[in-house]
Parts: sequence; C-alpha cells; structure tokens
Amino acid sequence: MAVLDIKDVTKIFGGTVAVERFNLTVADGELVCLLGPSGSGKSTLLRMIGGFETATSGVIAIDGEDVTRVPPERRPTGMVFQSHALWTHMNVFKNLAFGLKLRRLPPAEIKDRVEAVLEQVGLAGYGQRQTHQLSGGQQQRVALARSLVLEPKILLLDEPFASLDQHLRERLREEVRDLQQRLKITTLFVTHGQDEALALADRIVVLRAGRSEQIDPPDVVYRAPATPFVAGFIGTMNLIDGVVEGGVFRHPGLDLAMPVADGPATLAVRPEALGIAAATSAAAVIHRVTDYGTHAIVDIDLADGLRLKAMAPDARAWAAGTAVALSPQAFAVYRDNVAIHRAGA
Ligand SMILES: Nc1ncnc2c1ncn2[C@@H]1O[C@H](COP(=O)(O)OP(=O)(O)OP(=O)(O)O)[C@@H](O)[C@H]1O
Ligand SMILES: [Mg+2]
Repeated sequence: MAVLDIKDVTKIFGGTVAVERFNLTVADGELVCLLGPSGSGKSTLLRMIGGFETATSGVIAIDGEDVTRVPPERRPTGMVFQSHALWTHMNVFKNLAFGLKLRRLPPAEIKDRVEAVLEQVGLAGYGQRQTHQLSGGQQQRVALARSLVLEPKILLLDEPFASLDQHLRERLREEVRDLQQRLKITTLFVTHGQDEALALADRIVVLRAGRSEQIDPPDVVYRAPATPFVAGFIGTMNLIDGVVEGGVFRHPGLDLAMPVADGPATLAVRPEALGIAAATSAAAVIHRVTDYGTHAIVDIDLADGLRLKAMAPDARAWAAGTAVALSPQAFAVYRDNVAIHRAGA
C-alpha cells in the first residue's frame, strides 16, 4: 500500500527552473507515465521522489509521511536510472544481493529473495552470469530486479528501455506492466515515447518546460488533448492556425462552421478524422500518397504552404496533383492555450 503525494513542488538549478509548482497524487497500485520532450523535467521529478535531488520548495509525501528531505536509502522507493549502471565486477546474484546485505538479512533469505525476483523478471538460473555475458534486454531486467528485490512500495523507472530496439522495448514494457499489476506496486515510468505511455499508463502526465500541461488517462489525452502542445505531441495531429469570423473558421483552403466567438483560433484534426473529396478549386492539392497496405496517408499542401495529413482507406483512390476539398469530421479548437470547442467523436 503506497500513495504518493506531490504538492506544489519546484526545483531550481542555478537559474534553471527544471520543475515548476508540480502537483500530482498517485493512487495505490497505479502506474503513471511522465511524458514530455527532452529537458522538460521528467528525470528531475523522478529523482526528487527517489530522494536523489531535493525539492527547492513544496512537499513530497508517501502514505501521508513527509519525505521531502529524507535520504534515498530511507525512502520506500526503488529507482531504475536512465543510464542503468550494473556493477560489472559482480555477477548477477551479487548485483541483486548487495542491497539486501546492506540491510543485514540472513544469507538464506537473501538467496531465496534473489532467486524469486530473478524468476519474476524471467532470468531464473542467471545468477552466476557476469553482467557482460548478458544481452541489453537481460541487463535491463537485472537493473529492474535489483530495484524489485528490495520490495519498494514505489517503483521509479527512468526510461529503462530507451537504449533497446523497438521489438524488445515493446516486450519488456508488457512484462513490466504484467509484473506491476501482479505485485500491485505504485509506479512512475518516465518516457518520451508516446506509444509507450499510451500502452502502459493508467494516467499520463504531459510535461512541458517543467510544468504539467495535462494529467489524464491515455484515451482522454489522445482524444481530448487539453492544449495545442499536447495535441501536437501525442500522435499525429494537423494544427491549423486561422481566424473565426461570423461563426466560420477560415484558413486558406479550409472554411469550417463552428459555434465559436470571433477571433484567432487553432484547429486540431487527426489524419483519421480529416475527410477528403475530389474538388475543382486548387486551394488544397495532394502532394504525395503513401500506401501502408491497411490504409493510406495522403499529404496535402494548402495554398500557403501548410502541409496536412489525411488517412484514407485505399491509396489507389488518390494521386499526387489532385485538388481536394477538406472536411474535418472530428476536431478541437484552441484559443489562448485552452480548448474552446470540440466536435465529432
Ligand atoms: N544537476 C543539474 N544541474 C543543472 N541543471 C540541471 C541538472 N539536472 C537537470 N538540469 C536541467 O533541468 C532541466 C530538466 O532536466 P531533466 O533531466 O529533468 O529533463 P528530462 O525531461 O529528463 O530530459 P530527457 O528526456 O533528455 O532525459 C533541463 O533544463 C536540465 O538541463
Ligand atoms: Mg531524463
């Protein structure tokens, strides 16, 4: 049982505000993904929860107990770092046993716990291997096991699979999800892979320049992004700046009626929600058609040079150079960094 409370946490390094007034409560057994571009504060936030950095202001509490200034070894957290460092002069067993020895557990119990956790991460029988005799994926599993063996109440994973190829990354993240659900361990997982976050998380935190832009379940973040930044960051999104005049959004090549007050606006439409039909006006022209077999992606150039993407069921129906009319089937409209209107699914 572990609930994590982060209240108004700020971290300033010299002149850099790495994390700014961040708030989040992670429920017992929940898996939250921290997602954001490089430098957005993901590692800094995780390191403050683990105790490897101290918050400049704000409070971090675990199960109601303030741990803001408690050193890492006295927190009920286990961390797998962005650049995982196994001890290369120790075999796998000794890597895992090290933390338990520090806790002065009897050797027989250490052996049992190490063997049990090796089994959990799919490395039963690998105890005597040297770390350099392991594949990249196996090394990552040892790094994970080294945290798990200490039975943390909260698991902190900082891009643990970033260095692995996509196939292995997908497999390991499914394993982590299964393990996390079996052990019901409260988990924070840092990634800058949006697919990873969508696939893994109970909730996603989207960070931008140290501030949270949105905290919601994956389907909400995908279907109802709170800001244009989130809209552009998760999945593929057409973002079109224009002006609303008399209830019509206008951008060269695209007019769209909407119940929105006059003024500047940004229209956000997913490729799968952007309908296209052959037209005579040359305001929107197909630049390229890419056939993915199951569907096609049609790149469309507007008169002002803006390029949009539409998804079509069959590539053979479309050709470069064809003029098209655009009809967004589902869309969101943003003004002053908030959604002012949504339509469609
Ligand atoms: N020890 C430090 N001293 C000074 N500045 C730091 C320190 N650690 C991080 N920063 C700065 O804080 C900001 C956030 O860094 P952080 O490592 O948290 O980003 P990140 O989201 O994990 O990025 P990445 O995806 O590249 O790992 C960056 O501007 C970074 O340069
Ligand atoms: Mg980082």
